[in-house]
Amino acid sequence: MKKKIKKIAVITSGGDAPGMNAAIRAVARACSYYQIECVGFYRGYQGMIENDFVALSARSVKNIISKGGTILKSARSNEFRTKEGRKKAYDNIVKENIDALILIGGDGTFNGGVVFSKEYNVPFIGIPGTIDNDIAGTSATIGYDTALNTAVECIDKIRDTASSHNRLFFVEVMGRDAGFIALNAGVGAGAEEILIPEEDLGFDRLLEALKRSKLSGKSSSIVVVSEGDKTGENVFELAENVNKVLPEYEVRVSVLGHMQRGGSPSCFDRVLASKMGVHAVESIMDGQTDVMVGFINGEMLNSSIEEAVKSTNSINKELLRISDILSV
Ligand code: F6P
Repeated sequence: MKKKIKKIAVITSGGDAPGMNAAIRAVARACSYYQIECVGFYRGYQGMIENDFVALSARSVKNIISKGGTILKSARSNEFRTKEGRKKAYDNIVKENIDALILIGGDGTFNGGVVFSKEYNVPFIGIPGTIDNDIAGTSATIGYDTALNTAVECIDKIRDTASSHNRLFFVEVMGRDAGFIALNAGVGAGAEEILIPEEDLGFDRLLEALKRSKLSGKSSSIVVVSEGDKTGENVFELAENVNKVLPEYEVRVSVLGHMQRGGSPSCFDRVLASKMGVHAVESIMDGQTDVMVGFINGEMLNSSIEEAVKSTNSINKELLRISDILSV
């Protein structure tokens, strides 16, 4: 028989992402609607270990839907990676009579949930929240749309300077292992070339493309480079190496960094987070566990969290081809 859920705890863990607050709000309000007690542990798993939490009522999450970051704060807890740390977390969950967990974060967060659930059998549901969009089982993660639009807005501004000074700009965007932001922001901002970790296009190809664009009459260019791309040691070294071969270019580097993680979430992210939060609470009430809520073809669908962490969302190769055609 399904166990009646009386109390749920929610955490945000890993890198913060715009829309996490909207997801916390949705979880707290859905709990209130269904008369389930809700608490939020601070700093992800670390708060569970230290029993540092706050009660979340419908009213305590007012006015946060539009705020970036996370009111519960976030961390990557090393202590939770140890058996002792997880035991402390479990003891607190028992002490506080918590029946189930909702974990908002990326693959590191979900890996923690899988290990914890195997050891202690605590029901949990994952909500994908990361700007990287690298989680399988959903076409969008919370925060990705906002980060993408931030990146495009920044690249548009950089283009003004690139064009005024006839310069070649290398713009690094976030994504240690994933090129979603780079590829989509690159196409959206009309970049010359886009370098992503999933596809090694090679240094020579980049040189050829830049030579061609000079010959075709372009006076300025933008190359979008994902943080995890391996064409150079890093974006500065890459720019320097290009400039050695092509000294006719005046080269500059701009690293967008953490400004992509902050800011007020886009409407898309707020709506996505709201749907996912409600769906997560209803899935737990329904007796589901070890699943991640996902948004696929306009619908909310749950998938095995173990599968979600094993594979990653695959990059759209067609978009690389489109980018090639458009940078003629
Ligand atoms: O996973 C989100 C992300 O922003 C990545 O794109 C980036 O590589 C990483 O986190 C940066 O992490 P930190 O804020 O710990 O430096």
